[in-house]
Amino acid sequence: MNTKVAIITGASSGMGAATAKLLAQHGIKVMLAARREERLRELCKEIMKEGGEASFKVTDVTSYADMEALADATLKTYGQIDIMINNAGVMPLSFFKSLKVNEWEQMIDVNIKGVLYGMAVVYKHMEERNEGHIINFGSIASHVIFPSSSVYSATKSAVRVLTEGMRAEIGSTQKIRTTLICPGSVATELSNTITDTSIFPALEKLGNKEWTPLEANDIANTILFAIQQPANVDINEMIVRPTAQSL
Ligand SMILES: NC(=O)c1ccc[n+]([C@@H]2O[C@H](COP(=O)([O-])OP(=O)(O)OC[C@H]3O[C@@H](n4cnc5c(N)ncnc54)[C@H](OP(=O)(O)O)[C@@H]3O)[C@@H](O)[C@H]2O)c1
Repeated sequence: MNTKVAIITGASSGMGAATAKLLAQHGIKVMLAARREERLRELCKEIMKEGGEASFKVTDVTSYADMEALADATLKTYGQIDIMINNAGVMPLSFFKSLKVNEWEQMIDVNIKGVLYGMAVVYKHMEERNEGHIINFGSIASHVIFPSSSVYSATKSAVRVLTEGMRAEIGSTQKIRTTLICPGSVATELSNTITDTSIFPALEKLGNKEWTPLEANDIANTILFAIQQPANVDINEMIVRPTAQSL
């Protein structure tokens, strides 16, 4: 693991930050990307204080130019990219009737285009080396659709399709692995992006109420598991819910 290099988008909080810390603890060099510079700087410091190796690049995943600059900076700093973790995402759930068109567009830009750009900017490098691992974040919401989730679920379903499409197209001829992580409920800042407060009573009625959300580190562990498999083993998709989550 000591020679591997991973880019992690959305590394400024939640599962991205937890994954960055865990991978660094296992000797993987991490390039952190997100928009909030101060958080990236602090996380970098924390990782290096613990003996890990980390750098950061302020990146908006909706900008192809930013994503190209992120891949270039990683190659300049570490010489290679072994793992691309397309984790950045937003989830401003809303009822269709609320017509939050700007938020639909934001979800499409971050959750779909951001992931697609992330796959694109590492593709040539991985193809040339004939190895690499692309890890994309889907969601349980691509398997379970509920009132207010339609656009978010659509974006996460698109990520499923893109991940499987890349696997079918290049996975069989190259040594590039693709993994889709579909978390259930995880305690992070993600729901802060919800502005349509009219959805909350409906969300309250969904599923059982007994589950405690997973910790971000639970998902980081599943990512490490996928990475640690031998090169001929490709964990294509993992759905990871709290045991008691019915939805
Ligand atoms: N939490 C859950 O229950 C859950 C369940 C299923 C799937 N997921 C998925 O898991 C992934 C991680 O989410 P999380 O729960 O860890 O939430 P989070 O703590 O809110 O993290 C989201 C990350 O995305 C980054 N981001 C948002 N817009 C961006 C942009 N335009 N450019 C670059 N980075 C951007 C944020 O960083 P900046 O704001 O600093 O840019 C932040 O680091 C997401 O794809 C989410 O959809 C979460």
